[in-house]
Amino acid sequence: MVFSNVSRPVTGIIDGVLDRALVLGYTKIGSGLRRRWWPADPDPDALVGKRVLVTGATAGIGLEMARAFARLGATVHLLGRNPTKVRHCVAEISAELPGAEVIGEVCDVSDLDAVAAWTSNFADRVPALDGLVHNAGLMPKERLVTPQGHELQLATHILGPHLMTERLLPLLRAARGASVVFVSSGGMYSAPLVVEDLESNHDYNGVRTYARTKRMQVVLADAWAHRLAGTGVKAESMHPGWVDTPGVAEYLPRFRVITRPLLRELADGADTVVWLVATRPESKPGHFWHDRAQRPTTFGWQRSENPAKVRRFLHQVSDLTGTSKAWS
Ligand SMILES: NC(=O)c1ccc[n+]([C@@H]2O[C@H](COP(=O)([O-])OP(=O)(O)OC[C@H]3O[C@@H](n4cnc5c(N)ncnc54)[C@H](OP(=O)(O)O)[C@@H]3O)[C@@H](O)[C@H]2O)c1
Repeated sequence: MVFSNVSRPVTGIIDGVLDRALVLGYTKIGSGLRRRWWPADPDPDALVGKRVLVTGATAGIGLEMARAFARLGATVHLLGRNPTKVRHCVAEISAELPGAEVIGEVCDVSDLDAVAAWTSNFADRVPALDGLVHNAGLMPKERLVTPQGHELQLATHILGPHLMTERLLPLLRAARGASVVFVSSGGMYSAPLVVEDLESNHDYNGVRTYARTKRMQVVLADAWAHRLAGTGVKAESMHPGWVDTPGVAEYLPRFRVITRPLLRELADGADTVVWLVATRPESKPGHFWHDRAQRPTTFGWQRSENPAKVRRFLHQVSDLTGTSKAWS
């Protein structure tokens, strides 16, 4: 292997340069290079006897994660909002991996009533949950609202996942070694934490609201990690890089045309989440990952999060979801 004789500080420098030079790091060039030195793969049976839920698993990176979790032996709960797609994806993985246990779950994660009803039903069926992956995502051009009147990206990326996490906590604790992962985006680097207008009432723009809610996911995961310290449940966020998916084709068609030869395969996009859940590495505050390494949540020219602002954000999320305010 080209980098096997190169010291860790040197690969660390190369890795850092890739991270700052977005096109190099986020494309398949980044994962292609880093896989030469990144930590070992999980054992092939790392998740035998474990149970993992992936949201937004009817397409793209989520579907690929469901497949990868099943390959490692997990019982996979494949969650989507469209029952036909859910059935089709379960059948697809079951046909590919005979013996795999893949269970379809239907829930629109942006609909807080649906999340409440589905989590109650899930808790009646399942004793423990080892992995919870908040992957469902979207970037509509127009401002859309949910049945509860919330802006759709906020509800899909933040409110639904937050409510789901809180309601599934007893199952996560019961697993005695669970991981919760929020799939964010490198686009979050372009957005500060905005607490004045969480619902983008005043200046909705699909890409900007996407970046803001992806920033919120990183802040929320870090807060969950802090809150869950010592409970056996880890919380992380990550970004998958630029991956060729139906979502990119739908929401960023021009970007896709320009970058297509360099976009990552689905497996590279799914890799870090699967590795995080299967290996549960040590994680420092920030708890933000990409390509099997922790990454800064802000770059040098950006300020780190103001604790009062973070508290204000978390309290609003608790208010909007009717959940605990036990943030310290
Ligand atoms: N692809 C990239 O380059 C990239 C880069 C950075 C971050 N990400 C993040 O990675 C995640 C997956 O992205 P992707 O590119 O794989 O997207 P995708 O191809 O559009 O797939 C998104 C999945 O989420 C589901 N979904 C959307 N809203 C939902 C809801 N309310 N309830 C349940 N499921 C819902 C979709 O279901 P339907 O099929 O029913 O629409 C679909 O299964 C997203 O969070 C995205 O922000 C992707």
